[in-house]
Parts: sequence; C-alpha cells; structure tokens
Amino acid sequence: MALVRQPLRPLVCGTIARSSTIAYRNFASTSWAGHSARVDNKPRDDSVSQRSFHQSRAELDNASTALKPEVRKREAERTVVGEETQGSEGPHYKDQVMPIANASPLTSQGSWTMMNPIYTDEELNVVKIVNRPPTTFSDRFVQRLVKFLKRGFDFATGYKSIPIDDATLALRPLPVEQLRAKGQLLSDKNWLLRIILLESIAGVPGMVGGTLRHLRSLRLLRRDGGWIHTLLEEAENERMHLLTFMTIAQPSWFVRALVLGAQGVFYNAFFLTYLVSPRTAHRFVGYLEEEAVRTYTHCISDIEKGLVPEWENVPAPRIAIDYWRLPEDAKLLDVIKAVRADEATHRFVNHSLSDLDQKRDFNPFALGEADAITRGTTFGFTREQSAQFVKEQQQKLQNQAKRL
Ligand SMILES: [Fe+2]
Ligand SMILES: [Fe+2]
Repeated sequence: MALVRQPLRPLVCGTIARSSTIAYRNFASTSWAGHSARVDNKPRDDSVSQRSFHQSRAELDNASTALKPEVRKREAERTVVGEETQGSEGPHYKDQVMPIANASPLTSQGSWTMMNPIYTDEELNVVKIVNRPPTTFSDRFVQRLVKFLKRGFDFATGYKSIPIDDATLALRPLPVEQLRAKGQLLSDKNWLLRIILLESIAGVPGMVGGTLRHLRSLRLLRRDGGWIHTLLEEAENERMHLLTFMTIAQPSWFVRALVLGAQGVFYNAFFLTYLVSPRTAHRFVGYLEEEAVRTYTHCISDIEKGLVPEWENVPAPRIAIDYWRLPEDAKLLDVIKAVRADEATHRFVNHSLSDLDQKRDFNPFALGEADAITRGTTFGFTREQSAQFVKEQQQKLQNQAKRL
C-alpha cells in the first residue's frame, strides 16, 4: 500500500530513459546496416559512397511522395473511396511509387499506423462483457449518463437486445426476415449504421485527451509520463475500426449528417469534461467501451447463429488483414472479433487510467500492455495493481537490458 502514496513516475523514469536508448540504438543499427550494405558494394571512396547514399536517399524520397500513374488517374476520376484493396480514405501507402529494392521490410506493411495489438484465436474468443461497479458519486453519474445516451442511441439505430429462443433458432431456414420485420433482429444495414455511428464517436476521446495532455506538456515544459502516446494510439485504433467498416458499404448523406452533428456536440462536451476532470472523462470512456464490447458480442453471436446471413463467409477487408495481421483467408467475423478485443482493451485502459493520480502518475501501459486475456476479461487495474504492473515491467526491461 505504500506505493499508493507515491506517484508512479519515480518508479520508472530510469527505465524509460534506458529503454529509449536501447530502442534508439536498435533503430540506428537497423538503418545503418541497410546503408552499409549499399555502400559496401561501391568503391571504397568516401566521397563516392556519400554521393551514392545521398542520391539513393533522394530517389527514395522522391519516389515515396509520388503516386503511381494509375492511382493519379483513379483519384482524378474519384473512384477510390471504399474500393476493395484501395483503402477508404483516398490514396494508400501502397499507391506510392516505391522501388521495392529500396523499401525496408519495416515499411512494407502497416507503416501508416501506430502499434496495435495482434491477437491469437484464444485472445479473440476470450473477451467477456464485464461491468465495473461504480465506487464514487462521479462514477455513478457517468455510468448513468452512458446508459441514458445508449438508450437514445439504441432508439436511433433500431437496436433491441431481445434474445431469440432456441425453438426459433432450430428452424430451418431461419425466419430472419420475419424476426427483422418484428423488430427483434437487426439487419446487416442497421448493424453497419450502429457500428459506423459508434466508431465515429469512439475515435474522439483519445484524440482530445492526447491533445490536451500534449498542450499541457508544452505549456508547462514538463514530460507527460507516457499518457499521450497511449491516448493517440486509442484514437487511431478507433479510426481504423471506422475505416474498416466503411469498406463494407458507404454511409448515406443522412448518416454523414448524423456523424457531423454528433461529433460537433461530443467533441466539445468531452473537451470541456477533460479540462475539468480527466478522471471523470476516462471513467466515461471506460463505461462507453463496456457498451461497445456488449454491442460487438451481440453482433458476433448473431453472425455465428446465422442471424446475419449477409455477413456469413464475407472475406475480411484488405485494410483489416493488414492492420490486425490476419490470415489471408480471414472472414469479416474474425475482424469483428478483433475489433471487440480492441474495445475490451480501451475499456481496461480507460478504467485503469481513471484510477490514477491524473497529474502525477506515470501511465503504466507506456512500458508494456497488460496481457490480452487480462484486458479481455477484467475491467481494469486499481492504482495499486498499476503500480505493481509498472514494477514488473521495469524488472522485465532491466533484465532485457542486462542480456544485451
Ligand atoms: Fe471501436
Ligand atoms: Fe473503443
């Protein structure tokens, strides 16, 4: 319990500095290994070597900023959005003219994203719906607020959580259309509407928190204790969810208007909340993510029972295969399981961050993530558990440093 009285930061400052040095050393040696290999094939004249290095560097830079001619044509015709393998937000990194010989394997896949978890089958299937019991007045308030907002959201998207009885599930063919007509089942289009609205909102909190902490760090000329990166990672992860689902179908103008309005209200409300009480803001996100896990669990269950026939055996979009490193024959169901595992991570991280001293504590997940089973089946660390986790990560890094 003595740890509770201490900020988490002093526990790990030394380790962070050392691990950064190791990371820098590894990065530097990787870059220079590639450089040496090219230069070593040239005559051993430094000026020639330098010139050839700078030439190839310039070629690479020019190439990497240019789009392939066919992509320029496609862009001009504006047919890129939502096309399979073409990304869903305009040109993709693969659309660049990049000479294969010069491209590092590190840049060939997924280099446009930050780090994100890659899951095993067990980790994808173990995710559970868990609810963190509120412990303070503010917890109770935000939990009720989330439930209230969810009711409005359910109404807007036609969502009802009605279990389908076993006798109906045993019927062949399944009476999907009748169940949909009775409002007991969501259609594929309504699932997509719900998911797109949910994801367009879910990408806001990480960016707001990251921005405010970034500005605070600049303003006070102080380090942030590793929070910013985790929050930006979450924002990007949510945006990748959105882009993935947008490859299935393009939202109508009405949905786009809803997204616009919701973002305008939610961004400002969350910004003000984070300014006043970041602890409350993280708790709010924790409860929101509990609902996201619930929604995706329902969706997965419906697909597995054959209640969303349009999504059975649909191949995973290319963007998802790249992002989650899924097998080439992965299905949309695998993608939704990966999304749910991400939501469980956000649930875990935000509830854990909410329990910390917002101004003094180090982000425990800056040194490493809790394992995916823990993230998928529990609602977060208490402050004492975070302190213990930091100590374990610190020890792990020190042992690694000794081995190098
Ligand atoms: Fe999401
Ligand atoms: Fe999320």
